[in-house]
Amino acid sequence: MASKTKAKSKTKLPAYRLRRSPVHGTGVFATRTIRKGEELIEYAGERITHEEADRRHADKAEDDGHTFLFTIDAKTVVDAGVDGNDARFINHSCDPNCEVVISDGRLLVETIKTVKAGEELAYDYNLTRGLDDDPEIEKVFACRCGAANCRGTMLQPPKKKKQPKASGKTQAKSHAKPAAKRGSGRKKRAA
Ligand SMILES: C[S@@+](CC[C@H](N)C(=O)[O-])C[C@H]1O[C@@H](n2cnc3c(N)ncnc32)[C@H](O)[C@@H]1O
Ligand SMILES: [Zn+2]
Repeated sequence: MASKTKAKSKTKLPAYRLRRSPVHGTGVFATRTIRKGEELIEYAGERITHEEADRRHADKAEDDGHTFLFTIDAKTVVDAGVDGNDARFINHSCDPNCEVVISDGRLLVETIKTVKAGEELAYDYNLTRGLDDDPEIEKVFACRCGAANCRGTMLQPPKKKKQPKASGKTQAKSHAKPAAKRGSGRKKRAA
């Protein structure tokens, strides 16, 4: 009797699945080894203006650090809270294994190192800081990634103040101009 030969399935196993994360809520975990440079998923969601993103953010409680907003550019923010996909569950890490790249106006999550099965996928949120931020903001956006180099916050690292040159001469103080008007909405930005 002729034996049936099974056609080899070309479908790749899904690279990740959702489960509870020790870092926060639901997270996204690798189900197999994922090589560095693999494009995993688009960070999908409703495309809105910064004004609309600020309005949505303002509706939240002051101490609510939960955000699904991701800035694409000066015009557009993606709100994964509306029409989002699994990418919205990827948590932040200060020692990330993924990054988000912008390609043709789309946000694509890619691995930046080889990830082993079972490891949580994460990228650095680099949340924007506002000019008028309350010091309490550090608590609201405190990071619990557990990395050895955890900077303690999901906010972008504070900008370093310029040190005067050690030339012996007294330097004129320059008053930094206020940055272009920004909303207080806190958004992830692409690295
Ligand atoms: C896009 S959601 C990620 C999915 C989230 N775990 C959930 O279940 O909805 C982003 C939010 O998750 C939380 N989060 C993500 N990474 C975190 C981290 N390293 N430390 C603390 N909270 C984190 C914060 O509240 C953040 O605003
Ligand atoms: Zn951290």
